[in-house]
Amino acid sequence: MPNRIHVLDPDVSAQIAAGEVVERPASVVKELIENALDAEAMHILIEVEAGGRQLIRVTDDGHGMSPEDAVLAFQRHATSKIRTAEDLQRILTFGFRGEALPSIAAVSHVELITREPDRDEGTKVVVDGGVVTELSTVGCPVGTSVSVRRLFYNVPARLKFMRSPTTEMNHIVDIVSKFILANPHVSFTLRHHGRDIIHHSGDATRGDMRAALITVWGRDVAREMVPIELSVPRIRIYGFVSKPSLTKSARTHQVFFVNRRWVRHHALSSAVTHAYRGMIPAERQPVCVIYIDIEPLLVDVNVHPTKIEVRFANQAEIQRLLVQAIQQALSAVQLTPTITSQPQVMKPTVASPKPSRGAKEREREELEAFRRLLRQKVDGVATPQETLPAGVQPAERVAASVDEHRIETASRGAPGAGESPSQDVKAPKAVPPQH
Ligand SMILES: Nc1ncnc2c1ncn2[C@@H]1O[C@H](COP(=O)(O)OP(=O)(O)OP(=O)(O)O)[C@@H](O)[C@H]1O
Ligand SMILES: [Mg+2]
Repeated sequence: MPNRIHVLDPDVSAQIAAGEVVERPASVVKELIENALDAEAMHILIEVEAGGRQLIRVTDDGHGMSPEDAVLAFQRHATSKIRTAEDLQRILTFGFRGEALPSIAAVSHVELITREPDRDEGTKVVVDGGVVTELSTVGCPVGTSVSVRRLFYNVPARLKFMRSPTTEMNHIVDIVSKFILANPHVSFTLRHHGRDIIHHSGDATRGDMRAALITVWGRDVAREMVPIELSVPRIRIYGFVSKPSLTKSARTHQVFFVNRRWVRHHALSSAVTHAYRGMIPAERQPVCVIYIDIEPLLVDVNVHPTKIEVRFANQAEIQRLLVQAIQQALSAVQLTPTITSQPQVMKPTVASPKPSRGAKEREREELEAFRRLLRQKVDGVATPQETLPAGVQPAERVAASVDEHRIETASRGAPGAGESPSQDVKAPKAVPPQH
């Protein structure tokens, strides 16, 4: 019998690998923004045409690359971010696999222009379907600009699954919004066909997290959010959660960051649901932006090529702490009315007939009982303000108002979709971005 097994051609295996990293235009945007942030960029411009089908260009003012690195960057498993297997246990950069650029280049036409601060000239590298077709010297600003054209032109199967430009653009808006929430100190501009869709001026807001919330979800949502904060040795949980008066029909407005990396994690979502039990109707979902800064040794980010899944060494403890942090913040809100420009009314979360005085009383008692139970459960957890692990930033303070802030919501999905009828949250008023 003849042998059946053969090693795949490199271009076939490159396309297979690319399929894991580059699912749609938003994945390209994600990878390029992560590279820009890893290069310590403070200003990131994302330009898109036709929902990313025609063009995705990410330009940053980071540290750039040498001519040699600019070519090496397109080689699989070439990275400046780790060296040894042990480094995998202490990852604080977004990237570490050395796969994003080669994956993107395997399924598109890429042009990279980059310059380091101590060089007079920049480098241009053009890669077509994974093959370097041009290497030249160019004049350009310090930083890096990567243009991705004709995405999936050589992968008909993927091309078939591309959605309309509007849908793909919504995915891009979503991913850029998450980066803004995680990096409020960085300036982000998302431009579609030359028109600014989102502008977050990191400088103007001095990295204020509530300012990022306003950019992403608007002033009305931000007003209904309260800060949470809890630290124990090696873990710090902070961010914002909605008052029980603000809920959504789905978990679309629940965002979690682990060491500032956006992640999806069922255990975190269910901890949030648990924390609100008894306060909001079972079918409604609270809004939250939760940051978990944790000793890198306690979290494995090398679970999936897209790195949006992580594993915690101490998942149960994190769930407990998260519930505790949310509960503390919510009980403080209910005791202390928030001072805002408009009077705050705790509205019911569903459009139901007014409960009788007795029913209200029972509801309050149930809530109190639940809180007591919860306090007992988490009493064993110490919460001193411990020193944080290296690299973890202290909490940004919540500023009362952020007037320098500009946002344009043009290409968002229908604002307010999925909100409960009794507490409509209006979309932020579109204001032309400032440049
Ligand atoms: N915008 C950028 N500015 C400076 N250097 C960059 C930029 N983009 C990429 N690089 C360099 O190119 C290398 C390869 O990038 P690539 O995204 O392929 O891999 P990675 O970021 O190391 O890992 P991952 O595949 O997990 O993203 C990076 O390690 C980095 O050194
Ligand atoms: Mg990368």
